[in-house]
This record gives sequence, structure tokens and C-alpha cells, in this order.
Amino acid sequence: MSVFAEKLIAWQQAHGRHDLPWQQTRDPYAVWVSEIMLQQTQVSAVIAYYQRFMQRFPTIASLAQVEQDDVMQYWSGLGYYSRARNLHHAARAIMHHHGGVFPTDFDTIQSLKGIGRSTAAAISVFAFDQRQTILDGNVKRVLARLYAIEGWPGLPEVEKKLWQLAEQLLPKQQLPAYVQGLMDFGATLCTRSKPRCHACPMQSQCLAYQQQKVALLPTAKPR
Ligand code: ADE
Repeated sequence: MSVFAEKLIAWQQAHGRHDLPWQQTRDPYAVWVSEIMLQQTQVSAVIAYYQRFMQRFPTIASLAQVEQDDVMQYWSGLGYYSRARNLHHAARAIMHHHGGVFPTDFDTIQSLKGIGRSTAAAISVFAFDQRQTILDGNVKRVLARLYAIEGWPGLPEVEKKLWQLAEQLLPKQQLPAYVQGLMDFGATLCTRSKPRCHACPMQSQCLAYQQQKVALLPTAKPR
């Protein structure tokens, strides 16, 4: 296991989040709903919406059978409403094309509306314990700093490099703890502004820290 993965899992166990409602289940549907809500919304804002949504629509079938307006009512206030439309559409697709069972195959998961590569990876890891890596905005920032990667992460060649690094670092075991650690580390320690480098277990291997470039990385979008 990479030193990074080892330290990250230890950090997650000591300082990460373990009691979020969607961490109490491996039901792929519940994990899916939580990951879609968390795509553009912070954990603290998601919790109440997630609980109401899961109470009203506890299964894929219960979501697929209602009209879209009914779904939108439960999304109202969360924003980015295409997420809810895609979720509803995909629930119906799972009923029609996958016998109502959430698919386990990575490429099939990724083919569902509203699920990109990183979200597919999060679902695969948390629900099915598969070996896939996420790369959301938080993780891009962590890796750009760790390896002092220059260039705006929205550029295809920079993003490609970050995916490659994310894959290289992936451990062979303890995937859920590792991936949750990546998310929590980026969200609470290696933050965009005022990162807590003094409390960071990666300090000795972080190239941005050594080169005093933490505040400059990841590179801002060119304008
Ligand atoms: N952001 C996206 N997915 C998340 C998760 N499962 N836990 C915390 N933050 C997240």
C-alpha cells in the first residue's frame, strides 16, 4: 500500500466522518441518492433532504413509479434540479432495463443519467467494495498539492494526469475507508482556503508544502 493510502486510512479512522446517514447502509440505491445530492451540495445541507427523500422513496421502484413533479417537491431547495430529473429518469431505466436491480458493473453504472466517472466510482466502492477511484473537486485539489501539479485541473491534460495519480495511489484493500478518507480530507483539512497544513499527516511528502505553493495550487482557471 502507498504511504499516502496508509496515512489517509489512519487519518480517516481518527478524524474522518463515520456517522453520516448514508454511511449506515450499503444499499446501492441509498448510496446513489446520497452521492447525487452530495455532487454540488455540502454534507450539512444534504442530511435532512436525504432523510426525507429516503423516507418518501425508499426503493428504486417507489421512485420510478411517481411523476417527476412529485420527485421535484422533495428536491425543492437543494438546487441543481437536473440532478433530480436525471435520478428519476435513471430509476425508470433501472426498472425497464435492469429488472429493477441497481447494476454492479462499473460501465453500466456510469451509463446511467447523471452518473459520471467519479460518482460511479463512489457508488462502486461504497455499495460493492469495488476497486475504483473517485476524482471530484476536493480530490483534484489534494493531488495537485501532493504532487505540485501545475495547470488548471479543468484542462484535459491536467485532469488526465490527476486521474492517473488517483489510480496509482489506490490501495488494494480497505477501499471504502480510503475513498471516504479522500473526501473528508479534502473537505475538512486540505481545504481550498486556509488548509490546516500544521495538522496534516502528509506534510513530509507534500510537494506543494515543501515548495511553499499550497496557496497557489491547484492553479486557478485562466481568464
Ligand atoms: N462528497 C461526495 N460524496 C461524499 C460522501 N460519501 N461523504 C462525504 N462527502 C461526500
